[in-house]
Amino acid sequence: MLNLVEKKINEFIDELEYDYIRKLYKKLPSGKKVRSKLILKIANDKRAIDLAAIIEMIHAASLLHDDVIDDADIRRGSPSINALFGNKTAIMLGDILYSKAFFELTKFQPKIAKIVSNAVTLLSIGEMMDVELSKSFNSDIEKYLDMIYKKTASLIEASAKSAAILANKDSKVYELYGKNLGLAFQIVDDILDVISDTKTLGKPAMSDFKEGKTTLPYIYLYNSLDEKNQKRLLSLFKKDLNEKEKMWIKEKMKESGSIEKSKNYAKKLGFEAMKLVKDKELQEIIQNVIERDY
Ligand code: IPE
Ligand code: IPE
Ligand code: MG
Ligand code: MG
Ligand code: MG
Repeated sequence: MLNLVEKKINEFIDELEYDYIRKLYKKLPSGKKVRSKLILKIANDKRAIDLAAIIEMIHAASLLHDDVIDDADIRRGSPSINALFGNKTAIMLGDILYSKAFFELTKFQPKIAKIVSNAVTLLSIGEMMDVELSKSFNSDIEKYLDMIYKKTASLIEASAKSAAILANKDSKVYELYGKNLGLAFQIVDDILDVISDTKTLGKPAMSDFKEGKTTLPYIYLYNSLDEKNQKRLLSLFKKDLNEKEKMWIKEKMKESGSIEKSKNYAKKLGFEAMKLVKDKELQEIIQNVIERDY
């Protein structure tokens, strides 16, 4: 089924009738397709494939823009589009994918078009909040949670909710399932930035803090340190860290249990989502999101 989603995206791209776009899109390897898996598990029909293709195009556009925003030169294990062709091309390709996705979305019932397009507004606001929050060291968990809800959970929530509408299922239940799953998804992404490596992730590791992103493990770490070590952590904020400094952060995170606490937070959200659905495969998606290593 996932290959049908990929086929659909390629059809959408062919309809743009511009070879250069085809060429550029080919330089972006496939991702995990978590959002498509979710949609296809909830609604298993032809419309669900179109919806998944639209969501994956929106997601790809958000990544193109995100890599410009985060100055990231690797995506899905390959050089990012901004690294290969520059920021301008990455932004333009993102705009083309967004607008084609919206055009296709108008062929769905207004309720679904509203849910998905509103999620993209939230995603974009979330990205802006992420950048604003990164201007100084943020140690406020509530601000962090609101930002990750918008930038990441909103599209996953919209995917689950709109698939439920397609399948005539209780959309409220799937909406909450998607929200909790989406929050857990971003927390795990933020943990992986610290504990994994670039090769495994297929994107730059240990790069959030350098970009000013004080994600959940950093917030827990900061709040657990004594004054002297808090000062040391603040002195590393937004710095291009050397190996010794990276090791210091990682060790302190382990020592203080910040990684463990962050994982438990993601697990708690996963558990909340788990309670909402009986379907084994939907529960497996949660498990995989929490236990993934990339
Ligand atoms: C990456 O999303 C961006 C975040 C929301 C953290 P994914 O981890 O779903 O990216 P791909 O599509 O699998 O590459
Ligand atoms: C970005 O979060 C989420 C969106 C693309 C909206 P990140 O900046 O953490 O995503 P990655 O780690 O680059 O995939
Ligand atoms: Mg990024
Ligand atoms: Mg980002
Ligand atoms: Mg990340």
